[in-house]
Amino acid sequence: VKKADVIHAILAERIHNAPQPIIATAFAPTNIALCKYWGKRDQELNLPETSSLSISLAEKGTTTAIRVIDNSLDNILFNGKPIDPTSTFGRRLLAFLDLFRTKHSVHFYIDFTSNIPLAAGLASSASGFASIVLALNQLYDWQLSLQELSILARLGSGSACRSLWNGFVEWEKGCQTNGMDSHGSLLPMTWPELCVGLLIVNTHEKSISSREAMERTKASSSFYSLWPDKVRVDLALIKEAIRAYDFSLLGKTAESNAMNMHAMMLSAWPPISYFQPETIAAMRDIWKLRQEGLEIYFTQDAGPNLKLLFLQQDLLRVKSRFAGIEVLQPFLS
Ligand code: DP6
Repeated sequence: VKKADVIHAILAERIHNAPQPIIATAFAPTNIALCKYWGKRDQELNLPETSSLSISLAEKGTTTAIRVIDNSLDNILFNGKPIDPTSTFGRRLLAFLDLFRTKHSVHFYIDFTSNIPLAAGLASSASGFASIVLALNQLYDWQLSLQELSILARLGSGSACRSLWNGFVEWEKGCQTNGMDSHGSLLPMTWPELCVGLLIVNTHEKSISSREAMERTKASSSFYSLWPDKVRVDLALIKEAIRAYDFSLLGKTAESNAMNMHAMMLSAWPPISYFQPETIAAMRDIWKLRQEGLEIYFTQDAGPNLKLLFLQQDLLRVKSRFAGIEVLQPFLS
């Protein structure tokens, strides 16, 4: 199944809708996986081997403004600067836009404004693809559901399918070959006391994209065969933790899930490590704080930075230990 077939199945005749004579603008939050997506069963459609579960970061994300222009090329800005069409994000984005051009002559002006560091493992591509499908939906008046938009966003980047909602979102892996049953859904629970701390230890661009890293992991790590079972167990535990407001269970399951993902990467060939010395030092600090009785956990994605998980009651203690940390309360904004 090709991406174009999925677009056709969702949009049908609406693909020929004329664009509105406006700039369409939409915002989507970034999301942090508490139970990770790592490995695909279909690379073309970004269909995952496992389900996953995330929390959206409310006001942290990407705003996308889009309109059709009378030009022979797209004009795309990211935080005010022209996007490099040969960069990973640039190439993916242009290929994604091609899916929606009914005529070769259709070109877009797109202005992305993001308040998260690009490529520091903070999933700016997830909010980028989610906000662009929301903006296209307005521009062409498709009137799609969030579930349909989630499927379209997944074609740009897998984790983007979880960025259509605030709060806890589960991405069901689905089993259909066209992926129509593989999309995000909102979990109705809220947790106002839950805090996420962004601990940026290193802002350099990541060395290897998550796309390439997950393929290599699946192809060469002997631990990969254990991953689907690990995710099944962790997903159930995280959902139970959210239902019962059991923060220790949530934190320890999320941290263990992330460490298992990174352990698989270390055992891939050639090995992959997103750990910087500062990453390990911060992990040791967190483990020490836990020994001292502070309930704090972390998760880590395809980059060196950590996302800390703790409760509001410990906010001051956490802030005093980690200078420069940015704290978000996903359910209070
Ligand atoms: C570590 O969604 O960036 O953040 O589908 O190839 O675009 P592609 O991968 P991407 O991978 C995200 C990986 C992760 C874990 C997660 O968000 O679940």
